[in-house]
This record gives sequence, C-alpha cells and structure tokens, in this order.
Amino acid sequence: TGPDTVSPTGQPTGADQARMAQSGSYLTNAQGTRLYDTDHSLKAGPRGPVLLQDHHLREKVMHFDHERIPERVVHARGAGAHGVFRSYGTAANVTKAAFLAEDVETPVFVRFSTVLGSRGSSDTVRDTRGFATKFYTSEGVFDLVGNNIPVFFIQDAIKFPDIIHAGKPHPDREIPQAQSAHDTFWDFVTLHTEAAHHTLWNMSDRGIPRSYRTMEGFGVHTFRLVNAAGETTLVKFHWKPKLGVHSLVWEEAQIINGVDPDFHRRDLADAIEAGAYPQWEFGIQTFPDTPDQTFEGIDLLDPTNIVPEELAPIQPIGLLTLDRNPSNFFAETEQVAFHVGHLVPGIDITDDPLLAGRLFSYLDTQITRLAGPNFPQIPINRPHAPVNDMLRDGFHQTAVHRGVAPYRPNSLDGGCPFTAGADLGAYVETPVRVPEATKVREAPESFNDHFSQPRRFWLSMSPPEREHIIGAYTFELGKCYEVAIRERALQVLANIDPELCAGVAAGLGLPAPEPTVPLADVEPSPALSQVGHTWPTD
Ligand code: HEM
Repeated sequence: TGPDTVSPTGQPTGADQARMAQSGSYLTNAQGTRLYDTDHSLKAGPRGPVLLQDHHLREKVMHFDHERIPERVVHARGAGAHGVFRSYGTAANVTKAAFLAEDVETPVFVRFSTVLGSRGSSDTVRDTRGFATKFYTSEGVFDLVGNNIPVFFIQDAIKFPDIIHAGKPHPDREIPQAQSAHDTFWDFVTLHTEAAHHTLWNMSDRGIPRSYRTMEGFGVHTFRLVNAAGETTLVKFHWKPKLGVHSLVWEEAQIINGVDPDFHRRDLADAIEAGAYPQWEFGIQTFPDTPDQTFEGIDLLDPTNIVPEELAPIQPIGLLTLDRNPSNFFAETEQVAFHVGHLVPGIDITDDPLLAGRLFSYLDTQITRLAGPNFPQIPINRPHAPVNDMLRDGFHQTAVHRGVAPYRPNSLDGGCPFTAGADLGAYVETPVRVPEATKVREAPESFNDHFSQPRRFWLSMSPPEREHIIGAYTFELGKCYEVAIRERALQVLANIDPELCAGVAAGLGLPAPEPTVPLADVEPSPALSQVGHTWPTD
C-alpha cells in the first residue's frame, strides 16, 4: 500500500466504497455487467437440463461456495466495536509514544472474545475472555492483545499448542464445545502446575463476566517503555471498566446460554446503539528496569505472576470509549488481525518466553486465516499513518505500486534515499544487554513457585466469591471421567489452601489430601476481589 491508498479514517475509498454500498435499483455481476434475472438458471427449455454455459449461475454459486474463511485457531468467537482513546499525558515521562502524549485522540478497534469455543458457540461459558485493542496511532498501529485475566496458564509459548489441544473439545467426540469441564483440560492443568493460578481465576467469578463492558483487561506480560531521553521502565498494562467489574453467577450463566447464546455480543452492540458508550480507563503499573527484572521478589518475566496493586498502584494514563458498532461483522470483526509485534516507538517487549512465541504465532496464523501475506491492506487493518514499505506482490495484493526499484536506497526511482533514526520517529529496538549465556532448553529457577500467587488470590476473596469458586471446581471436576485426574486436581488445591481443597473434595465425595509443599506466607490483595475492587480516578 502507498499513502495514497489510505483514507484519513482508514476506511475504503472510491470504488471500494461503491462496492460496499450495494445500493441501486439494478444488479450486476462481479464484472459490473447488468443482470436481467438472478432467480433462474439458464436451461434448455423451462423443464430442460441446466446449461453449463450459464456463467451467472457459475459465478454466483462459486462465490457462495468460498464465503467461509477459517475461524481463528483460538478466540474464534468474538464481538468488536470502534472507539476513541484519549490520553491524559500522565505516561509522557516514561514513554515517548506519541499517542500517549497529553490530550491526543486515537481511533481504536476493540475485539472481545472467548478463547476455546468455535465461532458459533455461546457467550456466557466459563472461559477466559480476550480483550484486544488496535490503536491506529500517528506512528503506526499499536496492538495491545490482552485478556480479562492478568496471568496465563503457561510460562513458555512452546506449550501453547499443548494447552490449547487440551482445552479444545476431545478429538474423538468433539465435546465439550466450549467449557473447561473435561478430562484433557484438567489432565493438562494438573500435570503443569504453573497453570494453577490462571485456572483459579477461571473458576472464580472472573470466568463468567456479566458483560464485556464490566470486564477488566490486562496486557499480561511485562513490557518495556522508553522515554524521549532513552530511559526505560518496565510496565504492566491494565484496563479498568468505568462500570466496575461484575460477573454472572453460574446458574444465570447456564440459563442465559440457552435463552440467549449471543448475550454478550447483543449487550455490547445494544449499549453502543443506545448511546451508553462503554468506557475503560487505561492504566500502568511501573517497575524499575533492573538487570534482574524482578519487583519485590516477583519475577516480571513469568506471565503466571501478577504484581499486587497494593505493591505497585495503577496510574491512569488515558480513557477508552467505544462509540460505534461495526457495520459489517465479516469485514471488521472477523478480518481484524491483531499482533503483539505491532509496536510503536516508546513501547518495546521484554524477554518473557511466552511473549516471544506470540511474536511469531500471530503473523503466522494470519497468513493461513486471511489467505496470504497482504492482510495489512484489508480496510480494518490499515494503519492511519502513511505506509511506505518494500513489501510487494503476493496473494490478494490490492496496491498498485509505482517505480521500478522496490528497495532503498536506490538511484533509479528519482534517486530515493532511505532516512532513518529515532530522532526521525523510527522504531529503534531498545539496546538491552543480553547476558552471556549457554544455550539451554530449561526454565529458570524463579519460574518454579506455582502456588503462592494462587494462594494470595484465594485469600483475597470474599466469602461468597470463595463459595462460587468451590462450586465451580466441583461442577467442572465432577464432569471428569477419570478419578485419578480429580484426585490430582485436589492435590493442586491442597497446595493452594486447605479450606478450598476440603470444600471441593466434599463436593466430589473424595478425601482431601494434605499439601505436598509448605503453604505460602502471603498477604491478601483486596483489589483482587470484585467486592474490594477499585478503579483509579472515580
Ligand atoms: C488470538 C490473547 C497467548 C496464539 C488471541 C486473541 C487474544 C489473545 C485476545 C484474539 C485476538 C482477536 O480478537 O482477534 C492472548 C494472551 C496470551 C496469549 C493475553 C498470553 C498472555 C498466546 C500464545 C500463542 C497465542 C502463547 C501462541 C504461541 C494466538 C493465535 C491467535 C490468538 C494463533 C489467533 C489469531 C488470529 O487468528 O488472528 N490471543 N494470547 N496466544 N492467539 Fe493469543
């Protein structure tokens, strides 16, 4: 694409727009030739055989035959909305990102999703929710591809295919469709105990949000911000809903699944249509960028860890308002392509090994899902900044590039130079020192504490929230066929908290095991409870 193919709003222009409009009193074929009948095939006589020479029939049916594209390999079911992000400027001391300077307005597109269900599955299942935001900034696209749960199941992306294979329906019967009540899920998360924390969040009320509008969002990984002076700060990103954090109770969720499987999708679209625009405050927790990349003993590169808000308060840095529904689900919500590698100057990555795998995975999967490498040209994915790349040709190329020398510098196309440098607004990787090391396939020692963070979460819950958690584990584990898996799950719970373990064991009619590790000595974090939940500027 060249700058001339992008409208200021990122929407299609000219002929594309006319094609989208589909208005007018007559029909044409795809080549623009006017049709006189679209209801009858060409036949040898009214009751005779249909003729192969019917090019209109062939075009119409051929196009229909290819309407479906592969659904996302995860997060297949989602709902999106357009909006605007207004920054307060309070992050300007830690990042030079232009969209975070004071009072800058940036258009955004947000897609919320469930993780495991297929495109046609129900909304109110127990699952993690995706919360992915595309910021169309003046310096290029920045994607924050987060979830409504601040931690992840695994610490290394090489296990991602495994956890997803375990969480998706069993390969023999293709059940269950979209929830965690099955043997492979529990088999995996009890064999890989780093999953205990995320699983506990899933079994809490956070696993069944009342609405997308009442979910928190988290960037999960620790990122690195860079300011104009080149100073770096480690950071975790947070979205705080202005409506507060609210969940369904399990009985409601189950009934709604039957009565209105589109409940969350409908709720989001109806609210926006009624002018009740959902809002989230964007916030950051900041940590000094020390060589060990830990904070108060917490390894910041381990995505199964949070940093309690009491230890590192969230600083509000901007406000997101969703104010426009998509006009075409397929064009926008289905074709949007988020990627954790879409970064702008002032925001950089860290060495979290889960993030490293994601940097490969999103681009890779989109080549299949969106049929080739040119999906950045799809209107919803177009940057609102000029694009001047050397990427050429490929399936579905829609740009007509000019010139004869697609490389820079060149001395042919009018003598094109290549100007670069951070002072010119270029993205320059932070020169982080990589320690001298030996190549190994192993996790660091600091990734081995799997129970103290889940214990903190449990201790932070109010009595009704604890009751819900015990009920959820009992329900979900009660669906496991293998008793050995239920017993292993109880062992994980015993290592988190005896009361939690005893409650679930009683529900399952099994004995409660003793802990196999000393119970962690941690303080509750009131902000983790939906009852004690606070958000910064209200
Ligand atoms: C999709 C979040 C880990 C691979 C998504 C989406 C979200 C998300 C929100 C949906 C994006 C949309 O709405 O289109 C996360 C978070 C993670 C995580 C918060 C951990 C912190 C991973 C890992 C991998 C991965 C480790 C692979 C190694 C994918 C893929 C898709 C996806 C392949 C489908 C993308 C597409 O088809 O466009 N993820 N994810 N994710 N994720 Fe992740």
